[in-house]
Amino acid sequence: MQAISTKHLLGIKDLTANDINLILETAKEFKDVINRPIKKVPSLRDVTIANVFFENSTRTRLSFELAEKRLSADVVNFSASGSSVKKGETLLDTVNNILAMKVDMVVMRHSSPGAPHYLSKHIKANIVNAGDGTHEHPTQALLDAFSMQEKIGDLAGKKIAIIGDILHSRVALSNIFCLQKLGAEVMVCGPNTLLPKYIREIGVKVEHNVQNALKWCDVANVLRIQLERQQIKYFPSLREYSLYFGINKKMLDELNKEIVLMHPGPINRGVELTSDAADSHHSIILDQVENGVAVRMAVLYLLAQQN
Ligand code: CP
Repeated sequence: MQAISTKHLLGIKDLTANDINLILETAKEFKDVINRPIKKVPSLRDVTIANVFFENSTRTRLSFELAEKRLSADVVNFSASGSSVKKGETLLDTVNNILAMKVDMVVMRHSSPGAPHYLSKHIKANIVNAGDGTHEHPTQALLDAFSMQEKIGDLAGKKIAIIGDILHSRVALSNIFCLQKLGAEVMVCGPNTLLPKYIREIGVKVEHNVQNALKWCDVANVLRIQLERQQIKYFPSLREYSLYFGINKKMLDELNKEIVLMHPGPINRGVELTSDAADSHHSIILDQVENGVAVRMAVLYLLAQQN
C-alpha cells in the first residue's frame, strides 16, 4: 500500500504531487463507500479524534465529524465558545488537556495563521489543519480539486480562475498550491486592494476584469468577501463590489462555453454570486460539500497509517 509522506496535514505547501494524487485516489474509494446502503467502514476503530474549533464553521466541522464516524473513529468535539479558553487557558494547555484523555488525532481550526504548525511541534498526535486564519485550508483545496476532476477530468493544463477576496482567504492559497502541483494554470481576479502583494511571485496570472477571467477559465472558483477579517475599507461598498466583481447567471450563459462554477461557502448571496448563478446548472457547490466527506475520510485514513 502507498503511504502519505507526512504525519500531519498542515498545508498543501508541504504535500508532494504524489501525496495529493494518493489522497484524491483514496477519496474515490471512500466516495463509493458513502454511497452504499451501509456507509461505514471499520478503518479507524480504536482511533479517537478531537475536533477542536476556535473559529466558527458549518461545512468543515460537520464534514470532519461525519468522515470520522464513517471510519468508525471515536469523536469528541470542542469549541472555544463555552470552554475554559474564555478563562485564559492557552492553546497548548487546552490541547494537552484534551490529549491527556488519550486522543490520537486533532483536527483544528484557529484564527491565527501557523497555530496548527506550532501545535505539531509540541504534541505527538496527528494534526489536521481545518483552516488557520488567512493562511491555509488544505482539505478545502483537496475537495475542490477532487470536485474539479470529477467534472472536467485531469487538471493538467486546465485553466482555473480564483475570483474574489484573495487577500483574506485561506482557501485561495491552498487552492493555488494544490492546482499548481496538479499542473493546472491558475489566475486570480479581484480588486487590487484584495490581492496580496506577493501574489505575482507565486506563478499565477493576475486579472482585474471579471469578464476576462470568466472568458479565460474552465472553472471559476468564487470566494467570499470576508468582512469579518477586514479592519479597514478595501472597496467603497458591497453594492459597488457586486457591480464590478459579482457574477450572475446571465454572465455565465453568455460565455457560450461550458464553465464550472464553484464556491467554498458560506456564500454572500447577492454580493460575490447572485442566487441564479449559485443555483444554476453551472454550479457544483453542493457537490463540493458532498465530496468533502470522502476527501476528509481519505486524509484521516492515510494520516492514521503514519502512527
Ligand atoms: N468552506 C468552509 O470552510 O466552510 P465553513 O467555514 O462553514 O467550515
